[in-house]
Amino acid sequence: MLNIKITNNHPPKPKPAGPLGFGRIFTDHMFLMDYTEGQGWHDARIVPYADLTLSPSCMVFHYGQEMFEGLKAYKSADGAVYLFRPDKNGERTNATNDRICIPQIPVEDFVQAVSTLVNLDADWVPTEPGTSLYIRPFIIATEPFLGVAPSKNFLFVIIMSPSGMYYAEGLKPVGIWVEDEYVRAVRGGVGFAKTGGNYAASMAAQQKAQKEGYAQVLWLDGVERKYVEEVGAMNIFFKIGGKVVTPALNGSILPGITRDSVLTLCRDWGLDVEERAISIDELVAAQKSGALEEVFGTGTAAVITPVGRLRYQDDVMTIADGGTGPLATRLYETVTGIQRGEIADTYGWRIRV
Ligand code: PLP
Ligand code: COI
Repeated sequence: MLNIKITNNHPPKPKPAGPLGFGRIFTDHMFLMDYTEGQGWHDARIVPYADLTLSPSCMVFHYGQEMFEGLKAYKSADGAVYLFRPDKNGERTNATNDRICIPQIPVEDFVQAVSTLVNLDADWVPTEPGTSLYIRPFIIATEPFLGVAPSKNFLFVIIMSPSGMYYAEGLKPVGIWVEDEYVRAVRGGVGFAKTGGNYAASMAAQQKAQKEGYAQVLWLDGVERKYVEEVGAMNIFFKIGGKVVTPALNGSILPGITRDSVLTLCRDWGLDVEERAISIDELVAAQKSGALEEVFGTGTAAVITPVGRLRYQDDVMTIADGGTGPLATRLYETVTGIQRGEIADTYGWRIRV
């Protein structure tokens, strides 16, 4: 259990007026905690949101030893504030940390830090449809040293941003570019970890896709460029011939918490669910034969985002007539209903702060 020292922001910042967008506005406070080799994590504190002061020699600036997470807080009609499966973000933090030599954080400390900060800034949780408070925990290597080695010091930070939809398209289906030149990750690498380098590596492809009018890319595997992996900021699902199919976790895909929740819901609804390798050729063939019924992405920021168009080389596949299919609609309503306290949570996923 952390002993968190709180310094309040006086006077509080004015709340935003008008559309929120995603990730551009920040709340009154942030959480900080230091790690020092030999001492462990210490000095857990919440302070007014402000710039950080760091030495230019901090290792994070040179070798990218950093991790981040993403989760959301939701406000129900009666004013209760909920988190969705925050323990899973704590577990994934430690899986990432293990891979890139950042010390572990006890999951209960991670959840306590998030909950305490959300509680303090609870009046920043927006209530308009499609909005929530996006929470961004991250850890950076702060030892001032230019040698390539794990840092001896780290800083754990949590910031929060009242946000709307991640995609400019809002709830409307997005277009996705199947990337066959650049790759995101390879087995044995850091694809399963939530570390900044994965996202830096994704930007050139993302930029190319956006120039062509597509929102994000669908990555193919890093060896054969044959099997689909995931999208820039979400996992990918297909409904093919009545079956729900998603790529199996193979070490190069981020194990999404929304993905896991969607798999659980689909299985409980009695649907036929498969986690397996899916080749791009299988998708093209399924689309040609009419078996490709739906495509949608899942993620904390993206929630359930229908894909209306998939472009692979010279093929532009239109899915579900470019609209939102019934499975994506049912999943969106169920997942957001559980998150917002509007429908019963039989899974114990919703945590009241
Ligand atoms: N894949 C990538 C690359 C992501 O950045 C995200 C977002 O966090 C996801 C998948 C979805 O993961 P989650 O559902 O845990 O948000
Ligand atoms: C999330 O969904 O939380 C993400 O981290 C996606 C993203 C904004 C990179």
